[in-house]
Amino acid sequence: MHIIAHRGASGEFPENTLLAIEQALLQGADAIEIDVYAVDDELIVIHDPKLERTTNGSGTIYQHTLSYLMQLDAGQGQRIPTLWQVLQLVHGRCWLNIELKGKNTVEPLLALLTRAQSELGFELSELLVSSFNHHLLLKLKNAVPELRLGALTASLQLNYADYARQLGMYSVHCEINFMDQELVERAHALGLCVYVYTVDQPDEIEEMLQLGVDGIFTNYPARSRMWLHDKLK
Ligand code: G3P
Ligand code: MG
Repeated sequence: MHIIAHRGASGEFPENTLLAIEQALLQGADAIEIDVYAVDDELIVIHDPKLERTTNGSGTIYQHTLSYLMQLDAGQGQRIPTLWQVLQLVHGRCWLNIELKGKNTVEPLLALLTRAQSELGFELSELLVSSFNHHLLLKLKNAVPELRLGALTASLQLNYADYARQLGMYSVHCEINFMDQELVERAHALGLCVYVYTVDQPDEIEEMLQLGVDGIFTNYPARSRMWLHDKLK
């Protein structure tokens, strides 16, 4: 079961920053999950479209220029990273789950991936792109069929695994409160991976292990890894 650092090691460090990502890598995370929006064709790493919760800015990301956003304090002196900076940081160290938020992300992402492949030697296999917006995933599927894609859901629709399979997804990403054995079994039977968010407690980790899920998104990669290790003994 993979440990995926949710917004980096966000339980201990400012979420979605290079610091939280570097710390998650040092803590042995198998993967990093980040949230990405497009502003002026640049992909930036932040969870909320509103700035107040995680930065010293105010208003929404769309009301400001990129240069204003780039100089904000995102906690502990960190800046809002660009996706390019994150690709540079994680390349060759672990796999990366880019969660697309907001609008107009597909074209900038395709351009950035092309650049990352040629300039960094980035492999598509290092990536898993997910979104609650399945229209975006379908566009990506058509543009780059080999890109791994994950269909996020915040509920448990009937036949969700069958739906994701039809879309050509690699994985389903589900909220922990809606997880059940039937979904996991059906997804696996169809060749899909199952990733669950957000899993921070030892009893939850044990439950996910019993269900046989492929990975958990956790805000605490170090202690989740330790608890997982204990359960596997
Ligand atoms: O990708 C898993 C999880 O991050 C989805 O929800 O709101 O935390 O981005 P959210
Ligand atoms: Mg997310």
